Amino acid sequence: MNIEFTHTISFEEYNALRRAVNWGELSLRQFDMIVKNSLFFVIARVDGKVVGTTRCVGDGGYHFFLCDVIVHPDYQKNGIGRMLIGKFMNFVDDTVGRGETAMLTLVAAKDKEPFYKKFGFIERPNADRGAGMYMFYQKK
Ligand SMILES: CC(C)(COP(=O)(O)OP(=O)(O)OC[C@H]1O[C@@H](n2cnc3c(N)ncnc32)[C@H](O)[C@@H]1OP(=O)(O)O)[C@@H](O)C(=O)NCCC(=O)NCCS
Repeated sequence: MNIEFTHTISFEEYNALRRAVNWGELSLRQFDMIVKNSLFFVIARVDGKVVGTTRCVGDGGYHFFLCDVIVHPDYQKNGIGRMLIGKFMNFVDDTVGRGETAMLTLVAAKDKEPFYKKFGFIERPNADRGAGMYMFYQKK
């Protein structure tokens, strides 16, 4: 499999990938904002077809939030998820200054915790730290 990594993706391609894993589609406004404001956005392609993506949002100083890790179901279990996380880690390493500590966070989808543990992420709550928290905000 010839995998290529790029940094561009169309609105249609992005929503098609989200649909493929049963995630809700983004509006064009949301898509434009994530393209404009993500610190890092990587897309995996096989023969030009989008097969995976992930991105990072944050301040580029201390907080780096890994989000929207998606591999198309037809291409899962081929190491593409691992490669995408590797690209994210390279981005962080290229960005953080020598001697600095940065906080890398994510919100795991159900039963995906073991995937992220492979890369060193630690589950919360634990003996030292409280739970992560979230909400979905829907504007009426
Ligand atoms: C989670 C996801 C990104 C993994 O992508 P993938 O390309 O199939 O993963 P890889 O093939 O690179 O797997 C890397 C390693 O993680 C393991 N792994 C993958 N998914 C796993 C899971 N759900 N539970 C436990 N281990 C998992 C693999 O066995 C592999 O282990 P190894 O390298 O030691 O052999 C993919 O299943 C996906 O897109 N799911 C739907 C969207 C989603 O839920 N994304 C996560 C949002 S938080």
